[in-house]
Amino acid sequence: MDIAQRTIMFGGKGGVGKTTVSAFAGLYFASRGEKTLIITTDPVLSLSDLFETKIGDTETPIAENLYAIELSTDEVLKRWKNKFGDEVYEVISSIVNVDNDIVNYVATAPGIDEEFMLDYIMELVENEKYDRIIWDTAPTGHTMKLLTMPFQYIDHLDQAAKVYMGMKDSFSKLQMAVGLKKKKRTIFDIIDSWRKLAEKTVDFLKNKDQVGFVGVTIPEALGVFQIERLISDFDNIGLNTSHIVINGVIQKADCDFHTRKKKVQEKYIGRIREKFGNRMEIIEIPLYPHEITGLEALKEVESKLFD
Ligand SMILES: Nc1ncnc2c1ncn2[C@@H]1O[C@H](COP(=O)(O)OP(=O)(O)OP(=O)(O)O)[C@@H](O)[C@H]1O
Ligand SMILES: [Mg+2]
Repeated sequence: MDIAQRTIMFGGKGGVGKTTVSAFAGLYFASRGEKTLIITTDPVLSLSDLFETKIGDTETPIAENLYAIELSTDEVLKRWKNKFGDEVYEVISSIVNVDNDIVNYVATAPGIDEEFMLDYIMELVENEKYDRIIWDTAPTGHTMKLLTMPFQYIDHLDQAAKVYMGMKDSFSKLQMAVGLKKKKRTIFDIIDSWRKLAEKTVDFLKNKDQVGFVGVTIPEALGVFQIERLISDFDNIGLNTSHIVINGVIQKADCDFHTRKKKVQEKYIGRIREKFGNRMEIIEIPLYPHEITGLEALKEVESKLFD
């Protein structure tokens, strides 16, 4: 697996093997001596089950050079509140008279967890603690939301603030009349700083030298159609897809059922190779008859995959 980017996103339809393939990739880079972090932002966390180790919201050692984090939405919101809670309160309390609970309410707004997840991943990349960051993303819809939500949410806030400020003019005069001190930063300064942050995260994702995308699919219609749509969306956004992993490929068909199934698979493998083979590396992973859970089983399969 030849890949230049330090941050590699793995995405695809639900259940096609994103988490398993992310684990293979993590083990692969770790075995080459690169300090590697696997992070999952799928709301349904499954790295712990896969590695049969309790992995939490903080970096947990898995094997030599390999660490993992399962980032839950709760933890993301906790970190978001620590980082932005005071500013949010400052913005809102300058519009209406509210207490600090409002921050918890705002934290439930759509887009905040996605945006902050990106912010958190960007921080991990910036602090250069890891040579590789393997990012096991949530199934496709969620991934796309990650990329488009920050701006929607900030535009919404901006509009709301403008409306409230219009209403507030007469209050402001009243406040000045009773001698209340004026805020140093305006609401718009703060919202603008959030917009800059959102722009920074999206720019980071679009930086083809830093972030790569690996599409994962099984050789069946729905998985393949979805990965094609995802790649086309990513092409439009400017995100770099360098690899497609076709997971669960039947090797030897020894019964009628598998012979027919293999035929279907071959059709879709051919379609992927034809469409993307000229600009991406296509990796096939066999369908295994056994379960691949636990570090040893994962290592065993990984060692045969990429040599
Ligand atoms: N090549 C394979 N051979 C056999 N079983 C596999 C293979 N790849 C994955 N599996 C099994 O398929 C199931 C789904 O895999 P996995 O959890 O990695 O998919 P996912 O895309 O991360 O799913 P989700 O969208 O739910 O997060 C798991 O039970 C896993 O062990
Ligand atoms: Mg998964």
